[in-house]
Amino acid sequence: MKVGVIGAGTMGSGIAQAFAQTDGYEVYLCDISKEFAEGGKSRIKNTLYGRVSKGKITQEDADSVLSRITTGTKEICTDCQLIVEAALENMEVKNTTFRELQDIVGPDCVFATNTSSLSITEIGKGLDRPVVGMHFFNPAPVMKLVEVTAGLNTTPEMMSTIKKVSEDLGKTPVEVEEAAGFVVNRILIPMINEAVAIYAEGIASVEDIDTAMRLGANHPVGPLQLADIIGLDICLAIMEVLADELNSTKFQPHPYLRKMVRAGKLGKKTGHGFYDYE
Ligand code: CAA
Repeated sequence: MKVGVIGAGTMGSGIAQAFAQTDGYEVYLCDISKEFAEGGKSRIKNTLYGRVSKGKITQEDADSVLSRITTGTKEICTDCQLIVEAALENMEVKNTTFRELQDIVGPDCVFATNTSSLSITEIGKGLDRPVVGMHFFNPAPVMKLVEVTAGLNTTPEMMSTIKKVSEDLGKTPVEVEEAAGFVVNRILIPMINEAVAIYAEGIASVEDIDTAMRLGANHPVGPLQLADIIGLDICLAIMEVLADELNSTKFQPHPYLRKMVRAGKLGKKTGHGFYDYE
């Protein structure tokens, strides 16, 4: 199957890798320029070559995965049977991307979005076909879950196709109706927000909050370290969607989270967050 992945950032390149290392899939990794798409492919190359040097895979395996990834702008997706959009988490950007894609791909191409919290129904508004959610988790080549989410117009056939594709990739799909944050982010991001509150109230240090949740709740990484990995701007955006859509004060983003975002301390991607990475 030929799959177009739109957006070559952390999620897009991770999703592209997950497809390219599965037999039977060919990936077209796209961004607003060929250079950006190449940047995503370089990230995949670094991950794969890292595994080669650890003796986890052979050089031949790594090169064969890379050979299944073509880079460019979305015009290269003409023959794709599936599009997985992982562009910016912005309604206008996602809707416009699909509007442009519907003139490029064939009528049977399935439109899937990796949105983490936006409405699937609204992303599909005004398009010639419905959209389905295919929500991966970071790092996408490793994490086993895919939330397969239905908007108002998503057909049962689309849900089945995406569940089957997820299983091909070695993932476990869960079916979710459209709702802000779906399942994981509705639970996970308020937990991170609460960890920010505990830190801002001076109850415990960053390190101790993370240690507490790693050792006391068996989480693989602590909530503040995870916030840095996800990106504090993304955590804030998800809290804002939860607060708006679910209309409850329990989802209000903590002012300290806003402050960190205003300071440009977005986590790993900017070199500073709750931890320093430089
Ligand atoms: N890309 C590709 N592969 C990666 C990777 C990456 N970014 N990071 C780690 N890996 C691979 C490693 O190569 C390694 O594979 P091998 O054993 O085959 O070599 C494997 O993952 C384990 O890695 P490590 O041994 O280096 O590290 P670890 O034991 O700490 O595990 C982890 C890494 C699985 C990512 C673990 O730290 C973890 O579970 N972290 C929490 C991740 C999480 O909660 N993600 C959800 C974020 S929320 C989200 O994504 C939703 C949203 O919409 C915001």
